Amino acid sequence: MNLPIRLGVNVDHVATLRNARGGTHPDPLAAAVLALESGADSITVHLREDRRHIRDADVRLMRERLQAPINLEMAATAEMTEFATAIRPHAACLVPERRAELTTEGGLDAAGLEAQLAPVVAALRGAGTRVSLFLDPEPRQIEAAGRLGAGAVELHTGTYCEAAPGAARDRERLRLAEAARQVAALGIECHAGHGLDYVTAAEMAAVPEIVELNIGHFLLGQALFDGLGAAVRRMKQVMLEHRP
Ligand code: PXP
Repeated sequence: MNLPIRLGVNVDHVATLRNARGGTHPDPLAAAVLALESGADSITVHLREDRRHIRDADVRLMRERLQAPINLEMAATAEMTEFATAIRPHAACLVPERRAELTTEGGLDAAGLEAQLAPVVAALRGAGTRVSLFLDPEPRQIEAAGRLGAGAVELHTGTYCEAAPGAARDRERLRLAEAARQVAALGIECHAGHGLDYVTAAEMAAVPEIVELNIGHFLLGQALFDGLGAAVRRMKQVMLEHRP
C-alpha cells in the first residue's frame, strides 16, 4: 500500500531574521499561514532553551490561530515539558539540544537516555500530544523508540544531506531506507528531516515508509529568490512526483 506523504514547514528562521533587528518583521505566523496556503500540511517550530529564534509567544499564537497541526521540536527538559503540556500541540518532536550548536547536530540518544525520556513521553502523551523522537538511523535507537511508545520517529537526514553526491550519499540513503523499514515494522510512523533540499527531499519521498518530511532552512533560503509560496509549492510538487 502506498501511503501519502506530508510536508511540514519549519519557520524558525523567519524568527531568526525578525530577531536580528528586534522588531516584529518578518512575522513567523504570517509565514506559517502562507506556507499552509501553498501546500504545507503542518508547521514545525523549535523552541530552543536560549530562545534564539522562535519564542514562547510565537508558539502560543500559532496554536491559537492555526487550524493545521503544529509540531513542536523541544528538548526533553522539565521546562519544555511543562510548556508543551500546557500548549498541547498536535505533535512534539524530542531533539537533543546543546547551547553552543548552530543547529541540531545529531539524533537523540534514546537508547542511552531511556529512563529520562520515559516520563517526558508519558507526560506529552497524557496531554494528547503525539510524540516523535529525532533519531539517527541506528537500529538500537529505533528499538528504544519502540520500547518508549513513541508515535513517530523522525530520522535525522543531516549526514545523508552533507555526504558528497555519489557513493557516499547513496550509502547514507540506503541506511535511511533500511531504518525507515525498521520503524514501520514496529508500527511507528516514520518521518525524516534536516538539511533537505529539492534533490534530497525527492529521494526521501521515494522511500515508501517515510510519510512526513520536515524542512526549514532550504525553503527559507529559496524564498529569497522565488518567494516562500513558490518554494513550498515546488517542494510539495517534487515530493509528490517522486512518491512511489
Ligand atoms: N527536523 C528536526 C528535528 C530539526 O531539528 C530540524 C532543524 O531545526 C529540521 C527538521 C529542519 O531542518 P532544516 O532547517 O535543515 O530543514
